[in-house]
Amino acid sequence: MKAPMRVAITGAAGQLAYSLIFRVASGEVFGHAQPLILHLLEIPPAMNALKGVAMELDDCAYPLLKGMVLTDQASQAFDGVNWALLVGSKPRGKGMERKDLLLDNGKIFVEQGKALEKAARDLRVLVVGNPANTNCLIALSHAKAVPPERFAAMTRLDHNRARAQLARKAGVEMSQVTNVTIWGNHSATQFPDFLNARIGGKPALQVIPDKAWLEGEFISTVQKRGAAIIEARGVSSAASAANAAIDHVKSVLTPTPAGDWFSAAVLTDGSYGVPKGLVSGFPVRSDGKAWQIVPGVEINAFARQKIDASIKELQEEKAVIQGLL
Ligand code: NAD
Ligand code: LMR
Repeated sequence: MKAPMRVAITGAAGQLAYSLIFRVASGEVFGHAQPLILHLLEIPPAMNALKGVAMELDDCAYPLLKGMVLTDQASQAFDGVNWALLVGSKPRGKGMERKDLLLDNGKIFVEQGKALEKAARDLRVLVVGNPANTNCLIALSHAKAVPPERFAAMTRLDHNRARAQLARKAGVEMSQVTNVTIWGNHSATQFPDFLNARIGGKPALQVIPDKAWLEGEFISTVQKRGAAIIEARGVSSAASAANAAIDHVKSVLTPTPAGDWFSAAVLTDGSYGVPKGLVSGFPVRSDGKAWQIVPGVEINAFARQKIDASIKELQEEKAVIQGLL
């Protein structure tokens, strides 16, 4: 048996976490031979609900779950952890944009960023709590001892949404849709890139020769899907978001299939003309240990204008939380 891996999940009594924790504990995410100790962080008023989640975890009798740490202290939650899935934060309600949460949720990531310095040396972080890109920027700028390339914000849900829309329109199996990228912010300005997407190995535009749909309904459906779910369910996506977090972790831990990539928002390094010092969505590949931004993806004038609009929004978000950096 391997030594247990420590995985922190914040917001552990919330609705997204309820769809995530049990799948992690089952072994689906880190492997069926990998014992786990779950570090579950909540705020004091939710600690009782968290005890209920822990009782249910006990009642699943998961063979790989070797222990749980239930805490309302970030420093305890991140002590020695190998992965931190940062979910805990306020969700938006109907009629709100994710950036309306900036000041309330941004503070959380100051404290948690500092506390992440207590994590294991191989720490990896996924920021899910919204607005995810800018929260990630805050967290990584306070975790001074952690290399910034260990951090990502989640654009995988948008990526999965884009793949699903393209597969349905083309009438093909999901597995046929590859090379999708979500550029920019996890927000209504994101650019779901159909120009480089491939369906059955061919350019998506060749298989779906409906440019008006791709440039219009496709983009806006993906951009506004989170809001559409809130409108319909009254609360934000949870199961699909947890599923995307799991896909993200697996994609980081597994070598990316030849020729393909996945979407993640990472600290900008000047690639694709995006200014340094932001967390933005890119096409990313992993060798199973570390990721890199895929170079050389073609950006035409249409894509450039869409990406620039989203980068402008990220810069505006950064200006709002400048005092938290
Ligand atoms: P929720 O309100 O059901 O749960 C959030 C939980 O976080 C609550 O239990 C709350 O007590 C806890 N929390 C708040 N502050 C905390 C802190 N400082 N430390 C630890 N826990 C804290 O909300 P939810 O539906 O589970 O959504 C959680 C977050 O995930 C929201 O910000 C939501 O917008 C975001 N989200 C992101 C994506 C994405 O694609 N990036 C997708 C879905 C949801
Ligand atoms: C989503 O995309 O479903 C989440 O970010 C929740 C939201 O606020 O839209």
